[in-house]
Formats: sequence, C-alpha cells, structure tokens
Amino acid sequence: MGQRGIMKRISSLFLLTVLAMALVLSGCDVGKKDSGNGKVKIGVTVYDQYDTFVSQLMECFQEFKEDNVEIVVYNASQSQQTQNTQVQKMIDDGCDVICVNLVDRTDPTAVIDAAKKGDVPIVFFNRELVEGDINQWNKLFYVGANAVESGIMEGQLAATACLADKSIDKNGDGLIQYVVLEGEAGHQDSIVRTEYSVNTLISSGVEVEKVGYAIANWNRAQAQTKMSQFIDQYPDGIELVLANNDDMALGAIDAYESAGIIRSKWPAIFGIDGTDVGLEAVRDDRMVGTVYNDKEGQAKAMYRLCIILARGGDITELSDEFTIDDGKYIRLPYDKVTATNINLYIKR
Ligand code: BGC
Repeated sequence: MGQRGIMKRISSLFLLTVLAMALVLSGCDVGKKDSGNGKVKIGVTVYDQYDTFVSQLMECFQEFKEDNVEIVVYNASQSQQTQNTQVQKMIDDGCDVICVNLVDRTDPTAVIDAAKKGDVPIVFFNRELVEGDINQWNKLFYVGANAVESGIMEGQLAATACLADKSIDKNGDGLIQYVVLEGEAGHQDSIVRTEYSVNTLISSGVEVEKVGYAIANWNRAQAQTKMSQFIDQYPDGIELVLANNDDMALGAIDAYESAGIIRSKWPAIFGIDGTDVGLEAVRDDRMVGTVYNDKEGQAKAMYRLCIILARGGDITELSDEFTIDDGKYIRLPYDKVTATNINLYIKR
C-alpha cells in the first residue's frame, strides 16, 4: 500500500471513530428519553392539594401507575413562586416529564424556561395557559376540558328544570331570580362558565332577573359565607343558584341548611364537576344537577401522554384514544348529570 493509501485508511478510520462517538454521546436523544433501564419518573405539582376536584383528579392519576413508574407529587399551596422552585427541583431530581397545575395560569414563564433548559416536557393540566405561552416550545402540552361546553350544559340543565317545573318560580312573577357563585377571577373556567350558563338559560327561553354575583374562589366555605349574605338580603327572593363548581353549590346548600330553611323553600341549585360530594348531593335531591368534569378521562390522558413523552414519543400516538387539537391539547368532553342518570356516575 502506498503512502496515499495509508493516509486514506487513517482518515476513514478517524471518521468512523468520530461517528461512533457522536452516536454514543447523543444516545439519550435517540429514541429513549426515560431515565434508562425502562423506568419513568413523573413529577407533578398541583396549585392546591385541598381543591376537591384537583385532589380527586390526582387520585385517579395515581391509579394508573405501573410498577416501573415513579410519581412524585408536590403541593404549591397557591404560590407560583413555590411551584417554580418545585419544578426546578423535579428537573434536578431527574424527572422525565412534569405535570403542572399552574397556580397563576398567566405566569408560566419560569416553568417554561426551566423545562426548556432541562429539556423536560411539560403537561399542563386543569388550569390553562394562554396560547402564546404554550406555543413557546414544542414540548408543552395541555390536558383539560372545554369550559364553554360546561357553561352551556349547566345553562341547559337549569333551563330544562325551570321550563318543566313551574314551582321553581316561587313568587310566580314569570321571572327566575338567580345568583351566580363564581370561581377564581382570572381562571378560564370561571369567566367562561358564568357567561355561557347564563346566556344559555336566557336563549332557551327562561326569563331571568339577576339578584347577584359573588366570587367564592371554588371554595365551599367562602360560598357558604357569600350565600348567607344573599339569604339575609333576600330571604325568599332567590329561585336559582348557578355555581361554577360543585363545592360552591354545596356551600350554597350549607348556607340554606344553617339558616334553618326547609328544602322546599330552597332555590334550584346547580354545580359543575360531579365530585363525590357533588354527586351525593344530586342523588339526595339537594342539588338539581351537575355537569360531569371527566377526571378519569383527564387522568388517563395525562398519564398516557407522560409515558409517551418520557420515552421520547409523540402525542399523536394517542390519536386513536383522544382528540388532539393543534398537536398540543387534549380536552375531554363534559356530561350532564341529574337524578335520572346519577347511577352511571356514582359508580365510576
Ligand atoms: C374545577 C373546579 C376546580 C378548579 C381548579 C375547575 O375546572 O371545576 O372545581 O376548583 O378547576 O383549577
């Protein structure tokens, strides 16, 4: 072999070595993204572990856990700052994917920056970030539901009841005097549910008169306090209560019970969620109806998506099971629940 031949051999050997090294170094980017050995570590941070719906959603999520999967859950206790620190810790601890129930849905910047830096995909859930933010990176996703749908369904449930049962119009003035109990100001579900439930009620042909609105932050005790004030002002002047969630509907019920007002004098009360306590209230005829917020479906979508992302896969792998919008969103449908179909939901 001449000198040129030897040089050629050496340079192709060098090329091969460089190629092999590149493949080894980029090993974690090719195909597998989990912590190696097939194990997956999922981190979760919830905005408030005492929120009834979110805590039941997390119970469902944990039920999907398989043996080779570890799930760590943090409570942000309503502090975005705390949540940002938790996300960084989960990244440092080697989580393959993180689920974030934002405290402040308008302030996900620190979470997104940390995730990008650590190259860890994020599945936001229940508290929806704005489009501009979710589009900041291709590894950001959202699992939840369509708030408009829940508002329309609550309005339909209330309209059906008001049109069918004339005794709801207690003073017989042809108008339904109503109160709305709203979730946190700024939460996508509060703004939208209030607007669509009331508009649907009106467009269904029910004539209404607004007695009052009160923000009770999704919270049963706060709703009871607000409702007690309305009862003091209008002892038998309220015929309908539209609550943005079941816990606040239950707070309204608590207020009537503690005021010593008998059931036949209560307004028709509606909620949204179908939490265990909410469904019991429908079953016992304390609440007329609720709208089922499919926590089982949302938990399943979150879990499946986490496993796929942790293994370097793509959200489209779920397209047989769930509807995927814009390659980023999975929204589970709501359902109307009344005394007639309550058994289908209580047994879930
Ligand atoms: C639920 C509420 C819950 C809130 C928390 C809503 O979708 O209906 O019950 O408190 O999410 O973010």
